[in-house]
Amino acid sequence: MLVDFKRPSSNIKYLSSLSSESWLEQALSNPIEILIDHAHCERKAAGVAIQLMFRYPSEPDLAEVLSPIAREELEHFEKILVLLKDLGHSLKALKPPPYGAELAKCVRKEEPYRMLDSFLIAGLIEARSHERLSLLALNSEHKSFKLLYVSLLESEARHFGIYWKLAQTKFSKNETNKRLEELSNIESEILSQTFALPRIHS
Ligand SMILES: [Fe+2]
Ligand SMILES: [Fe+2]
Repeated sequence: MLVDFKRPSSNIKYLSSLSSESWLEQALSNPIEILIDHAHCERKAAGVAIQLMFRYPSEPDLAEVLSPIAREELEHFEKILVLLKDLGHSLKALKPPPYGAELAKCVRKEEPYRMLDSFLIAGLIEARSHERLSLLALNSEHKSFKLLYVSLLESEARHFGIYWKLAQTKFSKNETNKRLEELSNIESEILSQTFALPRIHS
């Protein structure tokens, strides 16, 4: 048990569950592995934004919002690489948790549902990242980790908002809310199945 376990005063309300104290405890005990995994998350988040731009090249107003996300995620990625180097470490391959692949299975194959699910899942991953980076920012003792997480977490909340707005602009409010609730429950269910290694989304 963590002695002074701190939770952020507010979270993105669309997450169905809060992260467990045991997740945080494991993450804080393995800061370098979490940092390396976090670098991979940023790289993948940039990839998701770019992939959506490629998949829907003619969709109005999509590239305008996704291109800045991709750029920002790569800036986050580079920031983590710098800290890793400062600490005497470097990027390496890590076994990923099932989180991303399990969520990807929920994307329906036919359009326009494929697009809606892709936006909502990308948004949920951003929301969960925001929640977990907030926990790390509040509870990390090492100053350089704390500063890094504080500097990144606001962007992830904003990215959630962008994906959420994209979904709401292109689909009805009812349909968007209903599907987000379903996906959010699945997202929490995936995280409740323990993955033994310390990861941002384990
Ligand atoms: Fe990011
Ligand atoms: Fe993000």
